Amino acid sequence: MQKSPLQIARQSYQPKMPVALQGAVRLVEGKETQSVADQEEIKALFPNTYGLPLITMEPTTGKNHCDEPFNVGVILSGGQAPGGHNVISGLYDSLKALNPKNKLYGFLGGPSGLIDGKYQELTGDIIDEYRNTGGFDIIGSGRTKLEETWQFDNGIEVCKQLGIKAVVIIGGDDSNTNACVLAEYYLQKQCGIQVIGCPKTIDGDLKNEMIETSFGFDTACKVYSELIGNIQRDANSAKKYWHFIRLMGRSASHIALECALEAQPNICLISEEVEAKKMTLNDIVEDIVKVIVARANAGLNFGTILIPEGLIEFIPAMRVLIQELNDMLANNEEFTGLDGDDAKREYVKSKLTPASCELYRSLPKGIARQLTLDRDPHGNVMVSQIETEKLLIEMVGKRLAVLKANGEYKGKFSALNHFFGYEGRCAIPSNFDADYCYSIGVTATHLIAAGKTGYMSLVRNLTKPAEAWIAGGVPITMMMNMEKRNGKMKPVIQKALVDLNGAPFKYLEAHREEWADPVTSYIYPGPVQYYGPSEVCDQPTRTLLLERGK
Ligand code: FBP
Repeated sequence: MQKSPLQIARQSYQPKMPVALQGAVRLVEGKETQSVADQEEIKALFPNTYGLPLITMEPTTGKNHCDEPFNVGVILSGGQAPGGHNVISGLYDSLKALNPKNKLYGFLGGPSGLIDGKYQELTGDIIDEYRNTGGFDIIGSGRTKLEETWQFDNGIEVCKQLGIKAVVIIGGDDSNTNACVLAEYYLQKQCGIQVIGCPKTIDGDLKNEMIETSFGFDTACKVYSELIGNIQRDANSAKKYWHFIRLMGRSASHIALECALEAQPNICLISEEVEAKKMTLNDIVEDIVKVIVARANAGLNFGTILIPEGLIEFIPAMRVLIQELNDMLANNEEFTGLDGDDAKREYVKSKLTPASCELYRSLPKGIARQLTLDRDPHGNVMVSQIETEKLLIEMVGKRLAVLKANGEYKGKFSALNHFFGYEGRCAIPSNFDADYCYSIGVTATHLIAAGKTGYMSLVRNLTKPAEAWIAGGVPITMMMNMEKRNGKMKPVIQKALVDLNGAPFKYLEAHREEWADPVTSYIYPGPVQYYGPSEVCDQPTRTLLLERGK
């Protein structure tokens, strides 16, 4: 396979690691833990894995070695995030360092690989091809949920056949919730299979008191910020377009917020704020229009607006409309049998409550149609496929036309739309993600060797140089609370949305008027750098720095 010079150079990059992981390691147990909320319910559901102590890894003398070789299976779960391959290479190297006879198996295509017994042994040759590369293509990923007993039992059979002592699940909040359920089940069954989770997702919403950030967020945000910066330079040069840029991130607005902190656009919408202020779609449009008019009055008919992917679900009236549509359209053969878009539109209008019907009618027809068409396997609208940026362009354009007719706006509105998501999910990991992920993999091996299960591999103190990072383990039950899922209360890892009292949002709030102003405040972050001074190459995200008081 042909490679670019950068690909070749990155193959030999040696990730930086905490001092504690550089030689022999000893595990120190800390205080017993409890779940973030609903302690009684979580304890009852996880009698074997509840309350486990926090673990810190400390350097010790000698050499870690295990006399009895053992095998480990690894799964990549959900959306791609830069650094996944380094978790696997960290796991591989540390397993082989403990005993060269240890083996690492990769389950293919995500969690279904474990259930169906589809796997591949990961050998040194394979691992070397994927060191410090983006993507999940070494073994593939998938979104199958591991939640049913028959799946867990199949997993036992497959692991027994391969002599697997532990399964490492690299995933987001849902996959790690399932990792915890699996760990508990395997302990109850006394089948001797440990389960360790690793915190992955570009969305940045798997974080808490112990997990400072999920891997992949750093690289993905840096890639999007570079593109936003480039667009801002273009806008500032051509001076003729407003760019409406939607950013991935599912529900949480962490990616949009981080990109705003890095590139200082004229406007950045934050879904969590829209919800807290109970804003309507018209309120959002009015806010955008105000900035466009003010800039036009200063002769500037251009700018940038960041829009988080999940925005639409956080507008209270929209949320009600979407819920009504979900209920109405679930397994609705009458609807699917209707001929043509017009008939479907009339059907929907006849069934909605008056308030939702009015909102539905006010939407551009294309968007209204998307809301009725796209459903995921659970019957929910796939918000990532709703082109909110186009909806806003259309609504803003209409409002500006009214103002123009009234003589209140004299500018020229020409808008372009962008959606950044897949462009960043498989980027070559930044030094931060390359180092962080490799360390997460090595930490997972030490947890396994010590017989731990139901833990998430933990690397923290991340605003310090990698050598000063602290490795350890956090019991997954510690991150759990009870939430309603499909009408039933379930134990799940608490998702972290943007904290409106947190330092990153406060920074945006304090600066956004200045950024909207005709005097340009744009920052042009430029591409991710891998070689050069540390302040250029190793900086963590602005979100992480602000959260840690830097
Ligand atoms: P994860 O939660 O699995 O990490 O997914 C991240 C993500 O990129 C979201 O930002 C996005 O909404 C979603 O995946 C898109 O899903 P798909 O990969 O199925 O198109």
